[in-house]
Amino acid sequence: MAAPANSGILSLARGALRAPIPHELRGDLGMSVLILALFLLQVFTGILLSLYYQPSPEAVSESMQFIMRDVSWGWLLRGLHHWVSSGLILVCCLHLARALWGARYRGREWYWYLGALVMVLVVVLSFTGELLVWDNQAYWVVREFLADIETIPFIGRGVADVVRGGSEVNASTLSRTWTAHALFAPWLVWMLLMSNLALIVRDMRRAWAGGA
Ligand code: HEM
Repeated sequence: MAAPANSGILSLARGALRAPIPHELRGDLGMSVLILALFLLQVFTGILLSLYYQPSPEAVSESMQFIMRDVSWGWLLRGLHHWVSSGLILVCCLHLARALWGARYRGREWYWYLGALVMVLVVVLSFTGELLVWDNQAYWVVREFLADIETIPFIGRGVADVVRGGSEVNASTLSRTWTAHALFAPWLVWMLLMSNLALIVRDMRRAWAGGA
């Protein structure tokens, strides 16, 4: 009888689960899987929230109230999205601190660069997420932030105009903040996390080949 088509993939997965993980990679793998899981939880709750969230200055406040008041478990979704975001920052900090401790990053600089980039993007995601409420406070935070960006020589003005979507903070700015938060930054984080896992798998293979 012919073997099922996916038996190759299954036996590969079974083999990978049984294979011993080299001691020096265990912490990195554990932390990376935890960060990936928290990120996927953010994507999941984010997609559910975006079914109701409306990124326009006129509708945003009503849509937030709708999520909290009328959507079943909406308050929980929003709370999860908020707190997991803080958890993600905390775990990224621990991950980077671990790499710095005893200069463990030496000889593994690519892990460090990828981790630092993920950390920066998670902070950007948390910052843009907090702005999505688009209330008075968020409006002034954006204004002040972009005024500071404008003071950067040569590129500041151009960068601020691109983020604002013109010379004034208005509906275009909210729309761009939303696109950065829900599309652009998550895809970048996903690619970085996959590159990080690919590095770990490569090093595990090397360790197995060396030990064989
Ligand atoms: C690592 C990834 C992400 C992080 C760290 C993050 C973080 C945040 C934070 C801190 C808020 C403000 C929450 C609050 O205080 O109410 C927020 C809001 C929001 N995020 Fe995300 N987010 C991520 C990914 C996503 C994705 C992928 C989507 C959609 C596809 C999304 C959709 C939303 C929506 C709709 C809101 C507004 C609703 C609200 O404020 O609760 N997020 N995000």
